[in-house]
Amino acid sequence: MGSRVLWGDRPESIRLAAEIIRAGGLVAFPTETVYGLGCDALNPDAAAKVFEAKQRPTFDPLIVHLADQAMIETVATSVSPVARRLMDAFWPGPLTLILPKHLSVPDLVTAGLPTVAVRIPDHSVARALIREAGAPVAAPSANPFGYVSPTTAQHVSDGLGDRIDLILDGGPCLLGVESTILSLAGARPELLRPGSLTLEAIQMVIGPVDRATSSQETAHVPGQSPRHYATRTPVTVLPAPRVWPVLRGCERVGLLAMSEPRDLAGQFHAIEVLSPSGDLREAARHLFSMLRKLDALGLDRIYAEPCAEQGLGLAIMDRLRRCATPS
Ligand code: TXA
Ligand code: MG
Repeated sequence: MGSRVLWGDRPESIRLAAEIIRAGGLVAFPTETVYGLGCDALNPDAAAKVFEAKQRPTFDPLIVHLADQAMIETVATSVSPVARRLMDAFWPGPLTLILPKHLSVPDLVTAGLPTVAVRIPDHSVARALIREAGAPVAAPSANPFGYVSPTTAQHVSDGLGDRIDLILDGGPCLLGVESTILSLAGARPELLRPGSLTLEAIQMVIGPVDRATSSQETAHVPGQSPRHYATRTPVTVLPAPRVWPVLRGCERVGLLAMSEPRDLAGQFHAIEVLSPSGDLREAARHLFSMLRKLDALGLDRIYAEPCAEQGLGLAIMDRLRRCATPS
């Protein structure tokens, strides 16, 4: 049995969803990035249900979602001038900030860390839900741990349908790749996860940002395991754009292309094109849904075409590489 799905833009849906959150239940909701699996961020029993539903290890902390900047005082103890500049520039939007945690946030939500991850989503349904619930809402992406993130209500229902109380449908997510996570807990700002807000845009506002460059160096970042966003079908990232693999006839192979490929007729069992014109915003929006489509075909392998690691390309390549990391 699947869980109940309601259109998120109706006041009665928001009221019911907020009641469920206040009562310690789980509601999946749309954001501009991906769908989140939400609970009352200040209720440790509710947070425990999120970890259980996703089968998520408890060392992987959750992001706390706010309706407005005034709510930040309930979850963080101090907001530096740099943090305030970023909030003013990019909230609501796909930027998650790591700040010193307020005592009211349960340790389970932050995996015992002295810091908390916060953002204001740029989606009216998400903010209406948080406002009506009257509490910050902790929400990881609404997918089973390690699998590709959901960008439609149907994706949520496919992966977690019977484990959540309600799904609010807001249509397909506009950005399609998770928020950018920036830590302001150390001496210098550090990029912990590339995402929908580009590093270039952040640096325009606050200047240079440190970047962990190898998986060893990022090992201190909780929840950023090398293998993540993974399909059941093995994925190989091709060495360069427009360099196609030599295929053996017996293999059923799919291609995830960045832009319209030419002269490939018949070689691949299936081809998904992230953006016919090669636009990175469109590519990011389609990334997870096209990976899911190819994954549903029972192929032997999916080849993914790389893109340059600039702008949104940094987040797209981060997700593709993690998806392609063997378990
Ligand atoms: O776009 C998004 O960020 C989506 C939507 C739903 O808001 N959420 C999302 O959550 O991607 P999730 O759970 O898939 O990723 C949360 C990640 C953790 O895996 C961890 O890497 C980081 O956020 N994180 C959370 N709290 C942290 C903390 N205190 N310190 C460092 N990293 C933290
Ligand atoms: Mg996730």
